[in-house]
Amino acid sequence: MSQAFDLAVIGGGPGGYIAAIRGAQLGLRVVCIDAASTAGGEPALGGTCTNVGCIPSKALLQSSEYFAMAQHGLAEHGVRVANPGLDLARMQSRKDTVVRQNNEGIVYLFKKNKVTFVHGRAAFQARVADGWELAVTGAAGANEVLRARNVVVATGSNPRAFPGVAFDEDRVLSNTGALALDEVPGKLGIIGAGVVGLELGSVWRRLGAQVTLLEALPAFLGVADETIAKEALKAFTKQGLKIHLGVQIDEIRPGKGAVLVRYRDAKGGSQEALEFDRLIVSIGRVPNTDGLDAGRVGLALDARGAVVVDAHCATNLPGVWAVGDVVRGPMLAHKAEEEGVAVAERIAGGAGHVDLATIPSVVYTDPEIAWVGQTEAQLKASGRAYRSGSFPFSANGRARAAGHTTGLVKMLADAATDEILGVHIIGPSASELISEAVVAMSFRASSEDIARICHAHPTLSEAVRESALAVDKRTLNL
Ligand code: NAI
Repeated sequence: MSQAFDLAVIGGGPGGYIAAIRGAQLGLRVVCIDAASTAGGEPALGGTCTNVGCIPSKALLQSSEYFAMAQHGLAEHGVRVANPGLDLARMQSRKDTVVRQNNEGIVYLFKKNKVTFVHGRAAFQARVADGWELAVTGAAGANEVLRARNVVVATGSNPRAFPGVAFDEDRVLSNTGALALDEVPGKLGIIGAGVVGLELGSVWRRLGAQVTLLEALPAFLGVADETIAKEALKAFTKQGLKIHLGVQIDEIRPGKGAVLVRYRDAKGGSQEALEFDRLIVSIGRVPNTDGLDAGRVGLALDARGAVVVDAHCATNLPGVWAVGDVVRGPMLAHKAEEEGVAVAERIAGGAGHVDLATIPSVVYTDPEIAWVGQTEAQLKASGRAYRSGSFPFSANGRARAAGHTTGLVKMLADAATDEILGVHIIGPSASELISEAVVAMSFRASSEDIARICHAHPTLSEAVRESALAVDKRTLNL
């Protein structure tokens, strides 16, 4: 006996669970299928983001920041703390509780919105007259067939392993193992100085590890604006992160109690060898389409295994859609959510839309890094004439009062129309400040619009306004 739905969502991460909720809000009969389980066998809804990504990493980033503050950040405020100690077990169990609360929150949201949840793994079985049949292998062993008019594939991504070196989550760690260590490694190696490497490297550095990052590209944080990347490299180096650029890894050899890494640096010179207690491999992620049985129904995948979609996340099959990490575009939870909403609205007869050009990027280090729109290098390459304005946090009253003066805001605007083309921030609360820029760009605001809008004093947001004033060379506080 198969059950019929208007919409079946495969995957309960940010793309999938949001698509399911939005679909239910619009009156669709929705089922969401997700296989992840907690250690106790309960559903672990929320995908990579909730279980082994955004949420636990932010819990540990916050906790480790408090530890670092207690160690050497409070003295300048006149607060004396005697010998702060680390209770890593407590820190980790707090993180686990935060994750559990988020898992349970999604179960609650499904109930509230009348989304049917099936704890299991779904694969395409067949095309039928009015949609698709999915074969579901239940987490508890029971199998069933679900029928749905529409299917949204939201199966996410998996960490990319270094060729020939499997993640054992003991010595060679993906994000999963790197978030679950029960002792601070003495020497921590990280392959890839991208977002995961920098965020998790920062956590373990603050908790006492000696951290070395080995990055293949010659430029640091090449995806960010160059001014911001330079400032970030300075700040991270000062914090004690050892960052080697232009590195070619020759060998990774996990052994008993240590991992040996042989590499060459940018100059292509002699081979170096470093031994680490643990090694994080954070060299990107690959779309997760294994187990979907895509071939059985002819669902088109690209060479990377990603589901091929058009601008509206429609696949080559009628009524089959895909969102989030499993399709093109940045692998970001909020991008997946946007796509999930848009697809649910289209299925319900609306006109959902995602503007990939105004998806913000954030690196949750200290200082935080956030940007939206184009970098100066991208504008130069496209030949677009632009004006640039910057304002440092060292000239912002609130940042000085808080003692967080590292960093700056940089705004890029079209030279002719003054439309904001990009905003790049490194500094305190950059992840929150970037929202103003996202809103402004979504409304196609000019730098003058921001410059003429009242910003509360004293706030960090005044630095955004001052960067807008700087585009027209009329900062008031610099
Ligand atoms: P990433 O793409 O951010 O960084 C990978 C880095 O590894 C790059 O700098 C790359 O040049 C380098 N690399 C690749 N192969 C290498 C090799 N053989 N040797 C040395 N270096 C090598 O990927 P990451 O950090 O693994 O993150 C995975 C995904 O998860 C990304 O798409 C990222 O955007 C997302 N993510 C987002 C977060 C956020 O929004 N705050 C947090 C964590 C992850």
